[in-house]
Amino acid sequence: MLKVNQLEYGLMQKYIEEQCGIRLEKGKEYLIESRLTDLVLENGCNSFKEFHSKAQSDSSGKLKERIVDAMTTNETLWFRDQSAWEYIKEVAVPMILDKVEKGQKARIWSAAASTGQEAYSLLMLLHASAKVRGKPHLLDKIEIIGTDISTSALFLAISARYDSIAIGRGLPMDKKQNYFSKCGNVWAFDQVLKKRVSFKQFNLQNSFISLGKFDLILCRYVAIYFSDLFKRELFSKIARVLNPKCVLLLGATESLRGLSEDFKITYYKDAVINEKP
Ligand SMILES: C[S@@+](CC[C@H](N)C(=O)[O-])C[C@H]1O[C@@H](n2cnc3c(N)ncnc32)[C@H](O)[C@@H]1O
Repeated sequence: MLKVNQLEYGLMQKYIEEQCGIRLEKGKEYLIESRLTDLVLENGCNSFKEFHSKAQSDSSGKLKERIVDAMTTNETLWFRDQSAWEYIKEVAVPMILDKVEKGQKARIWSAAASTGQEAYSLLMLLHASAKVRGKPHLLDKIEIIGTDISTSALFLAISARYDSIAIGRGLPMDKKQNYFSKCGNVWAFDQVLKKRVSFKQFNLQNSFISLGKFDLILCRYVAIYFSDLFKRELFSKIARVLNPKCVLLLGATESLRGLSEDFKITYYKDAVINEKP
């Protein structure tokens, strides 16, 4: 593995934060070394300083994309955090179905969708509940958008095909039986239903204006990688695209306290609910 010196670490730290907001604290040199050494060598560079110059002058954006892909942590699983999913199943999904049953449209955003498990978990709950109501067509009025900065994660999300390790992480047996089929060693999510989620690349540093308004936003386990300054900006942008009385869900270890005044914080069982007044 190639060693990064302090000057190079500073350069790469700044570059990565500028590109995707991920803030590498002191002592995380090993992350640069372990995740980027192959890319440095592949690009014919002999040091991180040389690599940084190459990245800075990359006008195609391809090297930037590879660096961001390597530096993002795409860890995810099905129905991550039981408490949040109890709220989604018992409160958010019925509210969304009630709304569309009245003839309105509803929009949901998985804002750091990674390889798709979060968005498809939501889709399975919506589909099952709509079926129980005897109105599966209600899904036609619900738009689910999954975005992420990582192109390689999105590629997997769009394919909706998972290996046995990914499929084994959090997916209940009944959901596996009802929504997946096995092709060789791969589990494929229902290829018709999957089209109800649209995935696209989106950097949370960008303006949200073009995204429109949402009735539920999941922005989970991504702000943990950002500086407090970026977190404040992010939560303020989210508040502006969330409809009144609608909810932002964060990861179980994340909180808006000290970072945003735009939400009313309540609880549903063990889940923290950030509601826009
Ligand atoms: C740890 S995963 C969380 C996945 C999912 N939300 C969950 O809770 O299981 C974090 C995701 O955030 C994405 N990410 C990191 N920085 C981002 C940015 N600036 N804009 C959009 N997505 C970003 C990463 O690519 C990664 O897929």
